[in-house]
Amino acid sequence: MKVLLIGCGRMGSNTSESLKLQLPLGWLPLDHLSAIQSENEFELIGICDSNIEMLSTIANRFNIKILYTSYKDAIKETKPDIISIATRTPGRNEIINYAIANGVKGIHTEKPICNSILQTKAIIEFAKEKAVKLSYGTYRRYHFLYKQIKELISNGEIGKVIEIQVHHGKSSTLWSQPHAADLIVFFANTVEIEYIQGSCEDSKQCINNVLDGDPIINFGFIKFKNGINGLITSSDGYDTIISGESGKIIIRADGSEAFLYKKTPDSYLMKINKVFSGKEEALSGTQQAFKELILDIKGLNNNNINLNEIFASQQILFGLVQSHLSEGKKVFVSEIKPDLFITGRTGLNFA
Ligand SMILES: NC(=O)c1ccc[n+]([C@@H]2O[C@H](COP(=O)([O-])OP(=O)(O)OC[C@H]3O[C@@H](n4cnc5c(N)ncnc54)[C@H](O)[C@@H]3O)[C@@H](O)[C@H]2O)c1
Repeated sequence: MKVLLIGCGRMGSNTSESLKLQLPLGWLPLDHLSAIQSENEFELIGICDSNIEMLSTIANRFNIKILYTSYKDAIKETKPDIISIATRTPGRNEIINYAIANGVKGIHTEKPICNSILQTKAIIEFAKEKAVKLSYGTYRRYHFLYKQIKELISNGEIGKVIEIQVHHGKSSTLWSQPHAADLIVFFANTVEIEYIQGSCEDSKQCINNVLDGDPIINFGFIKFKNGINGLITSSDGYDTIISGESGKIIIRADGSEAFLYKKTPDSYLMKINKVFSGKEEALSGTQQAFKELILDIKGLNNNNINLNEIFASQQILFGLVQSHLSEGKKVFVSEIKPDLFITGRTGLNFA
């Protein structure tokens, strides 16, 4: 499959050495280019970056000859099967829509997919209409340990799921929390949300439905129609806690390890039952995302993220900010404003 990379910054092609040293098992390779180059089925047919200096630095480092500064020219001329998008969020919806209109079969895109529910809806509907498959930069759902835990839960190890808590610290809506929203959808195993409530740190004004910023989330509460509660808290540590009627699983520190606790017949307390860790030989989250995209394009995969899950995770983020803007009121899904636009700007940078 012919792959074109658009956006050659940190996530596109340049994972920093200091991050590489910190990441737990199952995260490397993290950047798109390394993951693309590690996959036999891929032929990298070119790279594109609107910043010519960045483009030539990466081209020289990896000896890549086919270079573009315009994604439109790149897509038109190279006719890729798959595009891999690691630009910043503003304008990403235009790249996705242009690629769908020009015949790509699959798109791997960084999170968040775009800046509003209106844009998300347009992308999802267009992708469905043209049968284009997507994989998403929410890598925990593709990480070996998180996948293993999801399987344990589907096999009934902790009974009926009651609550999913994600601890990603005091972090911003579009830069960090797409990961938390996706984990909640992933483990809830449903896209049917009833309502969302939330509180953010910033008191940024929203003018004509445009919020120029990237609010830091204090907490978010998501009620799913099947009764499951999702919680985004300010607690740090990159832990995810899935509680069920007969047990609980704590995934620690971005998948470094996981602990299964279970009720026992002789005690009302839950006791540790099993410890899990990553697997040296497993594909990284990014590699697995591409793998599942290929299988999805071939019609061989039911595990890849589906478009409705991407939509639900966007509903969580935008519903949460809308709730914050209306003093923490419950926002039922039918009330989420399609045109609430969050720029994702922090200082001079965008999410
Ligand atoms: N999945 C994750 O864990 C994770 C981690 C960090 C960042 N991200 C996301 O990845 C995205 C990229 O972040 P980054 O830190 O790599 O940013 P970056 O600024 O390092 O890189 C973005 C690159 O895209 C290029 N670009 C921008 N608009 C373009 C366009 N229209 N056409 C071609 N090139 C264009 C820029 O010149 C830049 O080189 C962000 O949306 C961010 O939220 C995801």
